Amino acid sequence: MQHSGPGDAAPVFSPALAPAQGAAAATALFCEAFDAEPDGVWYAPGRVNLIGEHTDYNGGTALPIALPHRAHLALRRRDDRTVRLVSSQTRDSVDVLDLDAIGPKGTPGEVRHWNAYVAGVAWALERDGLGPLAGFDAALHSCVPLGGGLSSSAALEAATAVALDEVNGLGLAGTAAEPDDAGRARLAASCVRAENEMAGAPTGGLDQAASLRAAAGSALELDCRTGRARRVPFDLEGAGLALLVIDTRARHSLVDGQYGARRAACERAARILGVELLADLEAADLEERLADLAACGEPDAAELVRRTRHVVTEIERTRDLVALLRDGRPLAGDKLARAGALMDASHESLRVDYECTCPELDAAVEAARAAGAHGARMTGGGFGGSAIALVDADAVGAVARAVVAAYAREGFAPPAFLDAVPSAPAGRLA
Ligand code: GLA
Repeated sequence: MQHSGPGDAAPVFSPALAPAQGAAAATALFCEAFDAEPDGVWYAPGRVNLIGEHTDYNGGTALPIALPHRAHLALRRRDDRTVRLVSSQTRDSVDVLDLDAIGPKGTPGEVRHWNAYVAGVAWALERDGLGPLAGFDAALHSCVPLGGGLSSSAALEAATAVALDEVNGLGLAGTAAEPDDAGRARLAASCVRAENEMAGAPTGGLDQAASLRAAAGSALELDCRTGRARRVPFDLEGAGLALLVIDTRARHSLVDGQYGARRAACERAARILGVELLADLEAADLEERLADLAACGEPDAAELVRRTRHVVTEIERTRDLVALLRDGRPLAGDKLARAGALMDASHESLRVDYECTCPELDAAVEAARAAGAHGARMTGGGFGGSAIALVDADAVGAVARAVVAAYAREGFAPPAFLDAVPSAPAGRLA
């Protein structure tokens, strides 16, 4: 065991920077690196998904909120096609790229590391018919935990998208007071393209939509088939609740094979069942369709059955939670119990059928529930990353301590915690 006694270490919370602090840090870095003032500072949040996991690329529904933790990008337009990038994580080195020379992963123009998310958005906007764009200098300061399954990369893409939208006069994002949702959906599509093609991560569109299209105080019902996004009431504070994020510190990577393998299995299952996407399956005849799939003769038929069952039941659970949150009653009593049960069932389905949890995620969820959480589940892609727990506001400390104690008993490195207040989408700060 690495740690001596259960509960002996206090929970560590990762704070969200206040907007002014984030802007000041990004601006200071910009001035130091480029010896000039930026045109402005743009920001975009990370996210947690309340439910609807691994549904986005299957055409299903997801229900994310934007976090108060954001990527801040100080940016200045240039008169040429050069891009210069610096980040507070690697502050000593400025990376220099040429918009005419960059290209997708696996080609000679491949862009490395986090630069792929920033330069990749410029590349994707141009491929999507919104160019040519001006080059730019940019400095990044982010407080979204890296690799924590909280969409640090989508936050970076979305911050870049709103910045480039404004300095190139594309007019897609609208203003903070009046965001243009259709324009933001276009920006989100280019961010997904950057992630898929430039960074080589075969993700769906959940993270980018959450970062660009969420709203403070609400969750976002995202229909990934139609692209429609609608607000769902999610007033945690008013209900005396909090959403505790447990960053397991077990690091995941969406570029490794597991995420892509899950996605490929879903696509194969859909083909075998003769539908375009698994969201096209009706929950009412799920058992029958699963029996067809079990008998399809593929060597991994049993696995395809489990993956499909997760996706179809998860879409149902997401619809149920959306309907529950919209019913106008306070989130308390049997309504709260039902919401928690849906979260719990989602985790079980991801653990047993989708097989994308890990011991750290399962331990976090179990310990949070045992300490009184109304519901708990992994969030995001899985295989590490973060879990969320819906808890009474005055029980946050006790639940976090219980998770720390459980990790100590298991010999896991200590987790980190975040307070997930439903926050504003990407915009301009300064
Ligand atoms: C990651 C991906 C998303 C989505 C989730 C799982 O966060 O980036 O597109 O597939 O996993 O719901």
